[in-house]
Amino acid sequence: MIVLGIETTCDETAAAVVERLEDGRGRILSNVVLSQVNEHAAFGGVVPEIAARAHVEALDKIISRALIDAGHKFETIDAVAAAAGPGLIGGVIVGLTTAKAIALVRRIPLIAVNHLEAHGLSPRLIGSVPFPYCLFLASGGHTQIVAVRGVGDYVRIGTTLDDAIGEAFDKTAKLVGLGYPGGPLVEREAERGNAARFALPRPMLGRADANFSFSGLKTAVRLEAEKRAPLSDADVHDMCAAFQQSVVEVVADRLRAGLKIFRKQHGKPTALVCAGGVAANDAIRKVLQQVAFEAGTVLVAPPPELCTDNGAMIAWAGAERLALGLTDTLAALPHARWPLAEVTKPANALPVTSDVTILDIIATGLPKIAPAKDG
Ligand code: KG4
Ligand code: ZN
Repeated sequence: MIVLGIETTCDETAAAVVERLEDGRGRILSNVVLSQVNEHAAFGGVVPEIAARAHVEALDKIISRALIDAGHKFETIDAVAAAAGPGLIGGVIVGLTTAKAIALVRRIPLIAVNHLEAHGLSPRLIGSVPFPYCLFLASGGHTQIVAVRGVGDYVRIGTTLDDAIGEAFDKTAKLVGLGYPGGPLVEREAERGNAARFALPRPMLGRADANFSFSGLKTAVRLEAEKRAPLSDADVHDMCAAFQQSVVEVVADRLRAGLKIFRKQHGKPTALVCAGGVAANDAIRKVLQQVAFEAGTVLVAPPPELCTDNGAMIAWAGAERLALGLTDTLAALPHARWPLAEVTKPANALPVTSDVTILDIIATGLPKIAPAKDG
């Protein structure tokens, strides 16, 4: 099955063609990503209107490139998937509407994919990762620990109480005078820094729940940066190193707590999976490997180009859903907000709520599929 995937939820215009083989394995036939970084750099962050316009201008060409690279045409793809949210609504509308037009003209299935679900399922595109697994989703807009029990079947174990982890990287970069997006720049500066020079807080460390908080850390970075302004190169290196070290320790602690909760609620995970842009960070990948090992499981980390936003993960999530008959109509809505728990799942999957027993299901029949709603 050949699926075209479209991603336009933030500042990457991306399209890809992915094949799902009969045995469930995946193959990336093309993966084209056009970053809008230059368009937003002057503003120090993504400007929604600029992003939407840039998607409109670029998307047709990016889709053509993805088809050509894959050796395919509109006539030879079996389905089209687009990220229908969560994200910046203007961009989401551009991608979803384009996918609807392709589906309508070609008379092929449309899959309106949840962007977070696509990050979460991406490791299954590159290898066999059976359910259930523990997902650490770490991106510019989200910081979640999730039990992935099946396609469309997600239980959140932990989340951030304030800023997202990627946002914390981006804000730190801004505070010390680096560009946007800040994550990769902070990582690069941190390599040359002395993390011990600044005593930054480790928010939420030692708590039994698996939640995160990054706003206190951001404030601590701001106060240090203001105290020492103007910052020397060495100050920037050391500040980035100290910030990243704090994040690494927090991530390790929160994931240890998350894996404990996972085991209690869902049994042993087949893997700890990391996904989202921040999962491209080497120091974070290293500590997650250690945490997974301690918990008696393994870390599955997709290559960095599959961690940051891309069309291949959207196409793959579309292929996984299509294989289960989970397609959408042309009435599918774009979502600015779309929690994972509201993603539709196969009718024969067990309901997420633990107070419904298998006897209830036998007595009352299978639960109806609830339509995804905008939150
Ligand atoms: O998943 P993603 O590409 O887009 C969202 O869905 O948000 O994640 C983007 C985020 C940005 O905050 C960016 O700074 C961060 O991921 N990021 C990193 C690294 N590469 C990207 N953060 C830390 N280290 C990196 N190497
Ligand atoms: Zn993302």
